[in-house]
Amino acid sequence: MTNAEFEARIETTDEWIRERTGIEQRHVAADGETTSDLALVAAQRALEAAGVSASELDLIVVGTTTPDIIFPSTACLLQHRLGARDCPAFDVNAACTGFLYALSIAEKFVRTGAAHNALVVGAETLTRMLDWSDRGTCVLFGDGAGAVVLRADSQPGVVSTHIHADGQYQNLLYNPVGVSRGFKDEPNHGVRVMMSGNEVFRVAVRTLSRIVDETLAANRLGKEAIDWLVPHQANLRIISATAKHLDMPMDKVIVTVNKHGNTSSASVPLALDHGIRTGQIKPGQLLLLEAFGGGFTWGSALVRL
Ligand code: ACO
Repeated sequence: MTNAEFEARIETTDEWIRERTGIEQRHVAADGETTSDLALVAAQRALEAAGVSASELDLIVVGTTTPDIIFPSTACLLQHRLGARDCPAFDVNAACTGFLYALSIAEKFVRTGAAHNALVVGAETLTRMLDWSDRGTCVLFGDGAGAVVLRADSQPGVVSTHIHADGQYQNLLYNPVGVSRGFKDEPNHGVRVMMSGNEVFRVAVRTLSRIVDETLAANRLGKEAIDWLVPHQANLRIISATAKHLDMPMDKVIVTVNKHGNTSSASVPLALDHGIRTGQIKPGQLLLLEAFGGGFTWGSALVRL
């Protein structure tokens, strides 16, 4: 869905969306297409790339805020559709930081020997919970999925992960509907993203600068050690601010926000996939992954490819 398609529906322009966000287009899941449909394709491609079969998996973690149904979890639905069996499978809801939370959990399972092959997915159909008349949010989000396979090795690919949350900011970015709060007597049961964009923007820029510093310090590395920044793709201005903080030129930053919009949990693995499949990211390089989202939640991972 291009920006031009919004011009016909709401008071906005392609120019405003590009200038304020860097977004040119986003993908919208087809009618009836669910988060697990998207997760399945991403998982199959990741397994194929890793040379691991579904039967070898001993952990599946899916980062998502938009599960197919309330339960079973999307990870359980995915496990069945992949033909994997017995391994633990569960979802993690950390809004846009969902993939980094899932990666961090899977990393711990692998490090402790509890899992040898772990599938980590970020998958969302966020457009299902948009208020299409709210120009402040509906132009920002898109649907997608990305996945990685972690395999135990004496040389860790995931060097370190760092995750955080601060619930005091819950009212700046949220969806007001929940099971125990009850559904609302409104269109779409009142399910919609509520965001104070400007304030979220300011906290995001500050917090992402802190998490990249924390990641470098934990590994006693200087900024120059990082070959690629693979950031959450919410807004090109937030991405540029983090790159500037790291003294990284934009040609060392993977940018997909123009093509995908903000796909929440799917955004970092989609960007990673793009960087690898286009040949920009090369084997042996050091990557810094980071994300920020509702909660607030935020996290990072240092990864040696
Ligand atoms: N088209 C045209 N005008 C618009 C649109 C639009 N789509 N949306 C808002 N505007 C208007 C506003 O109404 C406002 O008009 P006013 O001055 O007459 O009141 C004006 O543009 C400026 O609005 P701001 O909100 O100040 O614009 P800002 O530069 O902050 O950009 C944006 C808004 C893009 C939402 C930005 O704040 C942002 O990206 N925030 C962070 C989003 C984010 O990172 N979310 C985190 C993750 S999401 C998750 O976890 C689910």
